[in-house]
Amino acid sequence: MTEQAIKWWQKAVVYQVYPRSFQDSNNDGIGDLKGIESRLDYVKKLGADVIWLNPVYDSPNEDNGYDISDYEAINPEFGSMEDFESLLEEAHARGIKIVMDLVVNHSSSKHQWFIESKSSKDNDKRDFYIWRDPVDGHEPNNWGSFFAGPAWKFDETTGQYYMHLFAEGQPDLNWANPEVRQTVFDMMNRWVDKGIDGFRMDVISLLSKPDGLPDGPIPEDAHYASSNDMVANGPKIHDYIQEMREKVLNNADIMTVGEASNVDIENAKRYAAKDGSELNMVFQFEHMELDDNPNPALGKWDNAPLYLPKLKKNLTKWQNELAGVAWNSLYWENHDQPRSVSRFGSDKPEFHNVSAKMLATLLHFMQGTPYIYQGQEIGMTNAYNLGWDDFNDIDIKNARRYLVERDGLIDADTLLDYVHYKGRDNARTPMQWTDGENAGFTTGTPWLKMNNNFDTINVDAALNDENSIFYHYQKLIAFRHDLDIVTTGRYELLDPEDEQVYAYKRVGENEELLVINSFAEESIVREFDVPENAEILISNYKDDAGHTLRPYESKVYRYAK
Ligand code: NOJ
Repeated sequence: MTEQAIKWWQKAVVYQVYPRSFQDSNNDGIGDLKGIESRLDYVKKLGADVIWLNPVYDSPNEDNGYDISDYEAINPEFGSMEDFESLLEEAHARGIKIVMDLVVNHSSSKHQWFIESKSSKDNDKRDFYIWRDPVDGHEPNNWGSFFAGPAWKFDETTGQYYMHLFAEGQPDLNWANPEVRQTVFDMMNRWVDKGIDGFRMDVISLLSKPDGLPDGPIPEDAHYASSNDMVANGPKIHDYIQEMREKVLNNADIMTVGEASNVDIENAKRYAAKDGSELNMVFQFEHMELDDNPNPALGKWDNAPLYLPKLKKNLTKWQNELAGVAWNSLYWENHDQPRSVSRFGSDKPEFHNVSAKMLATLLHFMQGTPYIYQGQEIGMTNAYNLGWDDFNDIDIKNARRYLVERDGLIDADTLLDYVHYKGRDNARTPMQWTDGENAGFTTGTPWLKMNNNFDTINVDAALNDENSIFYHYQKLIAFRHDLDIVTTGRYELLDPEDEQVYAYKRVGENEELLVINSFAEESIVREFDVPENAEILISNYKDDAGHTLRPYESKVYRYAK
């Protein structure tokens, strides 16, 4: 890749904002757009180029904004369209771009389209959604919802079932209907005209359902087939995205990232092809699923630590296979994942700072576009102080409803351990700005209980400590902007079987980077071939101990070839 061929979004770093939990400006306990605007200087200070905003559209919040009831109105809890326009303007004034979440696999069941669709079989909008007759008095097929339970809901009005791959309040739109596609494309064009800078496309790989909606295999202990396996990368998906490219995306220089559930390399090469025929990059999940429960009926619910060689093998596959042909996203966290320092590093006080920095370094020197989830840059941790009465997330609630209460696969205490390790609410507790009341998030009652460690982990403390995780991220972002080798260099994994160290090289024409990351909680010895002329670019310790790697030590050597 030559320097000219590098696209702006390949050098960019994205900062993800979950509006409900970022900053409350009117003290109703819910974060809002004015709150985000008031924190733009913070994002600028970090150095991020783009903000990905989780959905801010009108929504009854069954899945916190991923159930949209009006694609062209702002959720009043977050403010008004004027507030949105002001946020966009202020972000642009600081050189920050705003990428919107586009959730068009499904709408809310409260969307006018669905209200009409459901009213009768011959309504104009009937075919906007996926309706089927019962089969022998049951669901039309055996698919399960991503949030446990069946993927179908019976509706008395017309005696048919509708498909919902997610919550009952998230009916799937029927992308096979050209009118649905055109309606969505028109809506997207109106957002582009407003001046937004891109779309993060929710579960975009699920739009095209297979012909005939056939039953799938049901794993032992489970009640349903995996709809993810049945639907992802369906027969028409690339046609739909190419149509979107032609009718919307070609009209503007915007960034497009496809959240691609269950994507394999071959499909990723098409979604994120270098020739620009579909999207700019994929946001795939494989490395987030390596520590799933071995029992498919329990899905992600587990608390077993990740085996490092497995992670290396997986990330290396993506690094090597997409190199030169497509583009990937790099992330450890988002609003669907727990906090990475708790999951892959250590949130024990003695390791918190070093392990959070190690994870940051490991990720930021890879090829792809990094995504930092709000609070990750100060090492926010999982929220062990939340209990059953505190959780808000439908995924957590449904796991209890189906896996514990209906199926008896595990008991509630075991599930609680798993939730403290993997649950989405770990990422959704409000942002920790200060050590004061509700961490400076609100003076009202926070919509979700705060993580109780904000007295030590907060933005104020991070900004006042030159050794903080925040400043480490700031440096990493600057390297991404300044060093082309991070964007273009060849990736080379070292010692794939080492269970404690993840080391790799980035190889450029004239120089190399050697990136060494220890996952061990004790000092260990490893010998790497470090040339005499090597300088340390960044490290999470003050000095270099040579072959000795201290707990969670991470260092990057740079040298001419
Ligand atoms: C993926 C989103 O990231 C997640 O939060 C949401 O629940 C599902 N898609 C359904 O929209």
